[in-house]
Amino acid sequence: MSLRRLHHTQPESFAFTPANQAWAAAQIRKYPEGRQASAVIPILWRAQEQDGWVTRPMIETVAGMLDLARIRVLEVATFYFMFHLQPVGSIAHIQVCGTTSCMICGSEDLIGVCQKKIAPEPHQLSPDGKFSWEEVECLGACSNAPMAQIGKDYYEDLTARKLAMILATLAKGAVPVPGPQNGRYASEPIKGLTSLKGERAHDTNASIALALARGDTVARITGEAPPIIVAKSPPAPEAAGQAAPDDLKRIKGVGPKLETALNGLGVFHYDQIANWSAAEAASADERLKARGRIARDGWIEQAKALAGPNSAGRG
Ligand code: FES
Repeated sequence: MSLRRLHHTQPESFAFTPANQAWAAAQIRKYPEGRQASAVIPILWRAQEQDGWVTRPMIETVAGMLDLARIRVLEVATFYFMFHLQPVGSIAHIQVCGTTSCMICGSEDLIGVCQKKIAPEPHQLSPDGKFSWEEVECLGACSNAPMAQIGKDYYEDLTARKLAMILATLAKGAVPVPGPQNGRYASEPIKGLTSLKGERAHDTNASIALALARGDTVARITGEAPPIIVAKSPPAPEAAGQAAPDDLKRIKGVGPKLETALNGLGVFHYDQIANWSAAEAASADERLKARGRIARDGWIEQAKALAGPNSAGRG
């Protein structure tokens, strides 16, 4: 149990954007007369989504909107760990799960990356103010350990190297493809399905496709919600603010069909393939129904040559 109190340095004021103000008023109207206090968590959450962290003026504003004593809102803000009580990175706040499954699978290495690349201590801003990090309790994705929540999305099956690449991608202003980072569709066995083998109805993880379509992983929420475009497969990365996709057909053995299938797995760049481990390559081979072609044609070696020395670090 840690001591949670408001940050020593506070802004002068807080105000919702007009769109968020209207959204908050609509939330309050959902509750019966006299029960408006029940809207405290969604409204405080939206305030945090707008400014990144919970401030004293924010608490006072929310208390005023709900006709509550300020201490009531302060109690909520300090009780729930989902509320950040100190400034967070302007680009992203990295929440690394440090509970049992993730710890066994390498979360301490992920924390080491955060300490090295962001700041030595949790809740400290990086020198450029762009990132911050903290260790959190189980986020419920244990079968994809180790993992971290960044903004609204989960990044799973992480390694220290992959987390470093994700941070580099975010620093460039792009959003890496969320979800499993080792080629898994979800949380199936990495060496391939052991049952229901004929039931592979989906080639694309719908949650990842939706996250990419929304593109608001680390965005601050002004109330002008981005339109939700339900994509059948993940859109090309430039649609999510990332670099243009590479022509994967330059890899011998990859034709138009396999390129589309690779894109469906969230693979758009040579360096993504170049960084596959043997297990990830095997998993991709199975998902693409490539029957050993990845190893036979040397996709990883080809991708390394095509990626060149300057492309390392893309998500
Ligand atoms: S232990 Fe990390 S998500 Fe559950």
